[in-house]
Amino acid sequence: MKSLVSLISALALAFAVPALAQSTSITPEDQVKDMGAGINVAAGWDPYWDGNPSSNFKLSYIDAIKAAGFKTIRVPITTFRHMDAKGHLDPATFKRLDSIVDAGVKAGLNVIIDEHDYDDCPKDVDACAVILPNVWYELSEHYKNAPPSVMFELLNEPHEKVDDKIWNGWIPDLVAIVRETNPTRNIIIGATHWNSKNDLPLLKLPEADRHIIVTFHYYDPFHFTHQGASWAGPEVAALHDIEWKGTKEELAQLDVDFDQVAAWGKANNRPIFLGEYGTYGKNNPRMDERAAWTKAVSKAAEARGFARAFWYFSEGPVGFTAYDTGKNQWVAPIKDALLSQ
Ligand code: BGC
Repeated sequence: MKSLVSLISALALAFAVPALAQSTSITPEDQVKDMGAGINVAAGWDPYWDGNPSSNFKLSYIDAIKAAGFKTIRVPITTFRHMDAKGHLDPATFKRLDSIVDAGVKAGLNVIIDEHDYDDCPKDVDACAVILPNVWYELSEHYKNAPPSVMFELLNEPHEKVDDKIWNGWIPDLVAIVRETNPTRNIIIGATHWNSKNDLPLLKLPEADRHIIVTFHYYDPFHFTHQGASWAGPEVAALHDIEWKGTKEELAQLDVDFDQVAAWGKANNRPIFLGEYGTYGKNNPRMDERAAWTKAVSKAAEARGFARAFWYFSEGPVGFTAYDTGKNQWVAPIKDALLSQ
């Protein structure tokens, strides 16, 4: 990755348009406090990104998100399929992303641009080592004058072949690319094994860079949150009727898990963002249990000063859905579990 980064840096210097320096910045600690409750919207596979009017995501939902009391949106974009042969993100995609970022900023929300090509990267690590820095060069340049409420998340859930050795090798180069144009923008970075809390001790961050927020994802017990999920393999896809009753033991496990993350954050002096949590509904019709789990996790995050973002705004009746786009209304038990702590 190194040589490509040098090449990109040289090109950046050669072609840089004089930029207005970012006039303000926010510490990652203050930003995490401000981020509070958030929600993931407009994932890269939503038809929105292909300009399809039947898309599940509409810009008007951003106002509904703000009105409900959320303070952050995380936008999981899949840029790789929108890059041309020269490594430029196509203008239509930039326009669509600009529309979301602008609407989010105007609504007073924090906006996370999350690079979500996490499944492509382990399939071809060498290709990812070329395209991912290029994506961040493009995005950093484009959003260099955006307000500090806009954050960059370098890569969702590095996993499998993107192991800690590879990921820790990429992080300094990706951060350096962002820093060329965004010296103080807060960057979000998580550990390997799908942003697992257990891999936090393996994560190596540039020590001197104090504008980093560390993220993890929480879907435990996985067989409860993912029962019926085909992408998690046939065994999980076949699961059903897995209960979560909020027993003493279940809540104690949640505390142990979140204390583990809080202890890492404290020891390493990095504020924490729980970037994804939620339950899949396909084989789990028990909304009361799904809402109880969601509430318990929201509370566990809030109690430790972590910001959080629910997975996911809307993906149909059996998805992780918090908002029913058909009825144009929130799924009340989930919304309440996310916001009323
Ligand atoms: C993935 C989604 C998936 C969710 C829960 C996200 O990171 O991008 O496709 O539904 O995790 O498994």
